[in-house]
Order: sequence, then C-alpha cells, then structure tokens
Amino acid sequence: MNMDQVKQFIFDKTRKNGQIFQDQLPTSTKEGEYQFDEWGTWVGSFWTGLNFLCYEMSQDESYLEVARKSRHRFKRRLYERPETLDHDIGFLYSLSCVADYKLTGNEEAKKIALDAAKVLKERFREKGQYIQAWNVWNPGDPYSEGNRGRMIVDCMYNLPILFWAAEQTGDQSYYKVAVAHADTTAKYLVREDYTAYHTFVFDPVTGEPKYGETHQGYGDDSCWARGQAWLIGGFAHAYKYTKEEKYLEIAKKVADVFLARLEEDFIPMWDFTLPNKEGEPRDASAASIAAASLLELSQHLAGEEKQHYQQWSYKILESLYENYSTKDEPNNQGLILHACGHRPAGKDLDCSLIYGDYYFAEGIARLLDATKTYW
Ligand code: GLY
Repeated sequence: MNMDQVKQFIFDKTRKNGQIFQDQLPTSTKEGEYQFDEWGTWVGSFWTGLNFLCYEMSQDESYLEVARKSRHRFKRRLYERPETLDHDIGFLYSLSCVADYKLTGNEEAKKIALDAAKVLKERFREKGQYIQAWNVWNPGDPYSEGNRGRMIVDCMYNLPILFWAAEQTGDQSYYKVAVAHADTTAKYLVREDYTAYHTFVFDPVTGEPKYGETHQGYGDDSCWARGQAWLIGGFAHAYKYTKEEKYLEIAKKVADVFLARLEEDFIPMWDFTLPNKEGEPRDASAASIAAASLLELSQHLAGEEKQHYQQWSYKILESLYENYSTKDEPNNQGLILHACGHRPAGKDLDCSLIYGDYYFAEGIARLLDATKTYW
C-alpha cells in the first residue's frame, strides 16, 4: 500500500465532502451519497473526528474549520435535547470535543466534553455495576423495557471519555465507574471462549444478572463482528488508562477470536457465526474498527506480539484500501464500501458508514504515527 496515496485519498474525499456537507452530520451512504441526521444519531462525531485527523495529518486549518462547523448541534443536543442521548455519548463527545481540546487546547470543547462525561457517568447503575445501554424508547414494548437493565458491548469504546474526565478533573468517581463497567463487561458480556454477547440484561431493581441478548447480531449466542471489534479497542484503551494486565489479556484474546474468523480477504462477515454465509454481507466497518484498535493494542506490547498485531492491522487496512475503498470512484462520497449497519433490521446493509470511514483513517494515521488519538 502506498501510504502517500492513501493519505491523499483520505484528504481529497474529506475536503470535497466538507465543502458539500457544511455543518451537517453524515451517517450512511445511499448510492454513494451521504445521508444526514439533525443530531447525528450515535455517529455524528465520526465525521468531525475524520476532519480532526485530516487537520492533524496535514496541519491544513480548513479541516479544523469543518470539524467545528457542526459544534452547535453537539451543544444543543447535550444542553437542550439530552433525552436523545444514550451510552454512545462517549463516541459523540470524544471525537467532537475531546479531540479538539487535545489538538488545540480549546476550552469550550473541554467544558462540553466534561459535561458529556458527567451525563455518561450518571447512567451507571450501582445495582449490577454497569452503564445502562440505550433508553426506554417505547414504553410498554418488552424489548425496550428491557433497556432499563441492559448493558451493551459497544459501551466499552465509550469509556475513554470517563478516564479522560478523571484525569482532567481529579474526580476519581469517573475512573471508578469506567473500571466497574469494564469488569462487569468482562464478567457477563465476554463469554468463556472470548466471543461476546451484544447485550446483557440485569434485573433493573435488584441488579441480578439475567441473560445475554442480541439485537444487531445473528442470534443471542452468536458473535457479532462489530461488537467483537468494539471489545478489542475498548479493552486496549481500558489498559492504556489503568495498566491493569487483565484488560490487556482480554484485548488480546478478543482480538485473536476476531482475526481467526476473518474471510480470506481479511474482512469479516457481519456476524462470525452465520449458519450459511451465502448472500450475507461482509461488514467492512468492523474491519476498520478492528484495524485501528489492533494498533492501540500493539502499542502496549513488545517484540513478536507487538509485530503480530501490527501486521494484522496492516493487512486489514491494505485490503480495505485495495479492495473496499472508493479510490477509483471519485463521485462516491464514502471512503470504505461494503459496511453493514444493522443486518437484522435490514438497515444500511451494503454502503459506507461514517464510522467505517473514520476508523480506516484513524488506522492509517496511526500507521503513519501521525495522530495523538482522541480516545
Ligand atoms: N452503537 C454501536 C454500533 O451499532 O455498533
């Protein structure tokens, strides 16, 4: 892979998109064009993060300007529409505000990010020791009611904002919540063979552990590829902040499961336990997340082990660029094709997803040693 070409590909697409998107927040593509959401669902910050990465790699301030253009949406959402937020608030404010503060020292961004971290911390349930997933969006609907006592695999990647807030404020309650949630994830979401449930349900009143349940994977006992990728990065970052060996061990084991189950082009099917792969989509977004996360993991390792995970990351990123990117499609607004958003709901099945694009760029920036990272 020619790294200069890849970098230029990311810069060119992002610059062109920025001129079109202005302050809008892209989510997924339809026929090569990004769709937008007023608040950005759970993904709005991956666009701002992509622009921060381009700014960091190029020092071109026009990317910084685009990254900040949608700031008013993140502010209004946090302060005026908090009911639209859930456990994914960590994603939303790490890549929109923590990133800005880390790169430029912007004090307003720091304040917003700290306020967001407080909202995430308040989702912690003492009984059960987990951060609550989602919200009861449809009262009376049994699945939705289950959300009162639900934890979710994606939430591991939302913990860095809590660790960061503990560092910034000196308030150890942020740290304690992050560690407690990571430990509960290790105990209930990660299975003995290091595959994982998508969600796990507790009795919301007593905190008694009940059962694992999937929403986005193939089945309750299956191994959803993107969930597995969230765990690699989630535990690697938990190790970064705590230096707890147990988190590093889990990060390696969940990574090994992910790597052992890839297809021959190093990209996973959307779920690793499909009884029949015929006609089923791959999920290139899971590959992007894993590639960036393997580089975080490798930073905490030495010798052959370090090289092993670095080489895997390179192979995945190379395959994404050579076989899945839009490098030969100048009018396609996505960077990475063939991502799968929500297979059971039939939503975003073969498209570009803004988080797939973001993590691809993060992986490339990490390979080039050109980012501080925003987690
Ligand atoms: N909310 C995270 C995901 O859908 O992967």
